[in-house]
Amino acid sequence: VIAAQETKKIVRKTHSTLNGRIDKTFHNSILRKKYISSRLIRVSPDADGVMAEALLTFWFSATDSREALRERIERILRRGLKKYTGPLRINVRSSTISNMDAKRAEALFNDICGLRQNRTVKSMAKSSSLRIVGGLSSAETGDWPWQASLQYNNIHRCGATLISNTWLVSAAHCFRDMSHPEKWTATFGAHLKPPSLKRSVKTIIIHEKYHYPIHDYDIALVQLSKQVEFTSSIHRVCLPEPSQTFPYNIFAVITGWGALTNDGPTPNTLQEATVKLIDSDTCNREEVYDGDITPRMLCAGYLEGGVDACQGDSGGPLVTPDSRLMWYLVGIVSWGDECGKPNKPGVYTRVTYFRDWITSKTDI
Ligand code: ARG
Repeated sequence: VIAAQETKKIVRKTHSTLNGRIDKTFHNSILRKKYISSRLIRVSPDADGVMAEALLTFWFSATDSREALRERIERILRRGLKKYTGPLRINVRSSTISNMDAKRAEALFNDICGLRQNRTVKSMAKSSSLRIVGGLSSAETGDWPWQASLQYNNIHRCGATLISNTWLVSAAHCFRDMSHPEKWTATFGAHLKPPSLKRSVKTIIIHEKYHYPIHDYDIALVQLSKQVEFTSSIHRVCLPEPSQTFPYNIFAVITGWGALTNDGPTPNTLQEATVKLIDSDTCNREEVYDGDITPRMLCAGYLEGGVDACQGDSGGPLVTPDSRLMWYLVGIVSWGDECGKPNKPGVYTRVTYFRDWITSKTDI
C-alpha cells in the first residue's frame, strides 16, 4: 500500500512509525468509535521502497453500509498519511483498501490482543454486583479468552494469562517447591473439567528477585510445549506499556477458579468479579497493609471488603478495558490477608513494572 525509499533500514522503522501513525489517524477521526486496531502484517521490499500491508479492524453494525464505510476509511487514511512529516516518504497515491477473505481475516482478528467477542460494556456492569468470594458470577468459555488454569499433577493450583501463542504469565509463588515443568499442564476454557484445550509445560521462568516468603517480585513466565492456535475463545490479552498508568478507582475485572469463601472449595466454572484499583498510599495505611505495598505491587478491591480474589486465583489476571474495549493486563493475583475482609483488599503484581522484564525473557 505504501512505498518508501531505502529498503532494508526502513523496513524496521516502518513498523513502529506506521502503526502509530495509522492509530493516531483513526483515533482523531470521526470513525474513532468504530475503529478497533491496526496491525502491520507484512512489510516487504518493493520496486520503489517497501510495501506495507496493514490489517485494519472496525466494528460493524448491521445498518452500516460496507461500501460507504470503506470509502470513508480510505479517505481518512489518505488524509492522515498525507499529514505525516517524519523520516519516511509515504506514497499515499498507491494506498488501497480492500476486504480480505474471511478465513485470513479471522486468523488475524484472533491474533489481536485483548478482544472479547460479542462482549459489551453491559456485561461489565452486570458483573459489578457479583463476586468471586461469594461466587455468584460464572463465566462462559470465550468470555475471558486469555485465562488459563495451571495444574500440578492435573489438580488446579493457579491461574495464568495467555500473552502469546506459547507464553503465559503467572505468579512466582505458584511454583514454590514445584518448579519442575513436567508435572505442570495448562488448560483453557471456562471449565476445569472438561477443558477446551490442554497443553504441557516446557519451561518455567521465576523472577530472579523473588524469594519466598516475601511477596515482592511475584511473577513467573510459563512456556507451553506446543503453541496454541488462537481462536475467538482462546487468545492473548494486551500487555500495557511500561509507562502506562491506570487511574485509581477505575473498575477492573478479576477472574479465576479460586475459592468462593476463605478456605472454601474450588469451583469447576470460571468466576468473574469487578474490583476497583486502590492507590498505594491508601493501601499502605496502617490499618490496611501498613507499608507492605512495594512499587512492584498494586491493590484492588474494596476497603469495605466483600469482593476479592482468593486461594487458587493466584497467578490469574486483573484486567481493564481501554476506550476501544481492548483488555489490558494490569495485575497478577498475588496475595492478601485472607479473602474479602474489610481493609484487606487483594494485592496484585504490577504488570507495568515488569513489562521490560517480560520482553527480556520472551521477546514479546
Ligand atoms: N495467594 C493466593 C493463591 O495462591 C491468592 C491470594 C489472593 N488473596 C486475596 N485476598 N486477594 O491463590
